[in-house]
Amino acid sequence: MIEYILYTALAGLALLPLLLYLRNPYFLQDLSYAITAIKIGVQLGRFKRQKPFYSILDCFLEKVAKQPQKTFILFEGSSYTYGQADRESNRAARALSTHARLAAGDTVALFLGNEPQFVWTWLALAKLGCTASLLNYNIRSKSLLHCFSCCEAKVLVAGADLREAVEEVLPTLKEQGVRVFLLGEACDVEGIESLSDKIQQASDQPLSPQLRANINLKSPALYIYTSGTTGLPKAALINHERIWMASFLQSIAGMRSDDIIYIYLPLYHSAGFLMGLCGAIEKGTTVVLRRKFSASHFWNDCRKYNVTVIQYIGEIMHYLCNIPQRDNDRDHKVRLALGNGIRADTWADFLQRFGDIRICECYGATEGNIGFVNYIGKVGAIGKEHFLHKMGCPYALIRYNTEKEEPVRDSRGFCIEVPRGETGLLVAKIGKRTPFSGYAKNKQQTEKKKLTDVFVKGDVYFNSGDLLRIDSEGFVYFQDRIGDTFRWKGENVATTEVADHLLMVDCIEEANVYGVKVPGHEGRIGMAALKLKENMDFDDKAAYQQVKNSLPSYARPRFIRLQDSLVVTGTFKQMKVKLAEEGFNPAVIKDRMFYLEDNKGYTPMTQEIFNSIAEGRVRL
Ligand SMILES: *[C@@H]1O[C@H](CO)[C@@H](O)[C@H](O)[C@H]1NC(C)=O
Repeated sequence: MIEYILYTALAGLALLPLLLYLRNPYFLQDLSYAITAIKIGVQLGRFKRQKPFYSILDCFLEKVAKQPQKTFILFEGSSYTYGQADRESNRAARALSTHARLAAGDTVALFLGNEPQFVWTWLALAKLGCTASLLNYNIRSKSLLHCFSCCEAKVLVAGADLREAVEEVLPTLKEQGVRVFLLGEACDVEGIESLSDKIQQASDQPLSPQLRANINLKSPALYIYTSGTTGLPKAALINHERIWMASFLQSIAGMRSDDIIYIYLPLYHSAGFLMGLCGAIEKGTTVVLRRKFSASHFWNDCRKYNVTVIQYIGEIMHYLCNIPQRDNDRDHKVRLALGNGIRADTWADFLQRFGDIRICECYGATEGNIGFVNYIGKVGAIGKEHFLHKMGCPYALIRYNTEKEEPVRDSRGFCIEVPRGETGLLVAKIGKRTPFSGYAKNKQQTEKKKLTDVFVKGDVYFNSGDLLRIDSEGFVYFQDRIGDTFRWKGENVATTEVADHLLMVDCIEEANVYGVKVPGHEGRIGMAALKLKENMDFDDKAAYQQVKNSLPSYARPRFIRLQDSLVVTGTFKQMKVKLAEEGFNPAVIKDRMFYLEDNKGYTPMTQEIFNSIAEGRVRL
């Protein structure tokens, strides 16, 4: 009898994994995710309690002590060890401290491309207890000044190649009493001081940790800019806690310390900086740094440097799949790709062509308090739900009215969660453990990202601005972005910022900017519906000059459509959804249209142009 019971129990136990598997085929992966998440939680808790506070810089210094000879950065034929990086940043810190008289708590704006100096300067600022504001190096004039003043920086450090852009805004910076340093040798422009010579002369001895004794988990570490919905970019405040959370993503993705990561995404964005650079420091890996993406160099670089981990955005994967096939397509050591925005069809193409690479798709906004990771590798999904995750960060998909551009509310005024499988707006509860730090000096935009009285009176949620869908197995799919931004070439473009620049053109009375889908391309390309001033014709030259001088290439409206009057909603909001759906096909749209030809200007749109774009003969 006893034996019988024992056997039954044993058989039951043996069957348990099978039963669990039948109930949930992802049981093991879910479990492993849970274990990693718990480990990270414990580690974060330890960092929080540790005195003095353990920052990403301390982590870097620990790696320097442990592996001074290990290669940290490979860049354009040069190689720098962890030890060298430490000494370089000591020099930079001493030069900045002496000549810019920086003290803990000061903010310094970095206006630099992807190069080792970017990393040294940031580390230097961290050593001084300063906050780094990471400016997008594509921006110019008004936007540049705006980003600069957002973070109230008193010092600007610029790359030698960005000198012209700095000179353009120099008079205003001078008025504001800003010190400007250029990472180059002697500079003959009054008001710009050279920094490289000062760095070379400085000592490389370590700096006292006392300098940053007051930094804690909640101290501002960085400002990273995201596109604004009303006009100009917004500076998202990134504190040390946020850096830790983002850099742990690599652990969830399964990155190891012997990996070699290829970073070509801009370091001024959170993908390149937080997930890429900080994640690499956390693991103590080698970074292959590149100025910018190049489809023709990509795989050669991977082979040359034995790269094992790459980062991506959807557009890049698409480019990679579009370069002509080669015999050595599978000759590389890349085993993991981390990123976001890859389309399901590109994903399948990519795996088929480049071999067995684990694609770890992640979702999250720079300033957001919610993220997902597709740790299963399910093609097409941006993440998977996990009950631990939902416990830590309550979120919901709510019903959204795309015409009115607002969430649907029930008779009591509360939002409505969509049934599983339907598309809804992602909102995440703002709380102590899931804070939303908001944007520097921009209360209005900060408030705009908050949604109140969502499920009960007085609750506050972060409005992600993204429409998602979650299927019955818990896989999360990206559907669309709402409202006032669209994504093109991996950059978010704020429609009102583009419209503001268009309105400076004499002939334009009103402008409605939106993104349209282009066959065979990721994201949406810029298009503007314009109403001209009375008795004026479209001045294509003036419009081209304006967009060329004031907007980075990814933000310029590629198509223009002239309308007698712009359609608005009942609340006088511009209608974008319908226009975006209509696209740019002259066979469908009867309005006069223009097309922005690379380096030429606006020319009348024709069916021939449309066809060559639609058939992929012209790539935008
Ligand atoms: C890449 O790996 C190969 C073989 O494992 C090795 O011979 C080569 O030196 C490595 N290259 C670099 C740049 O580390």
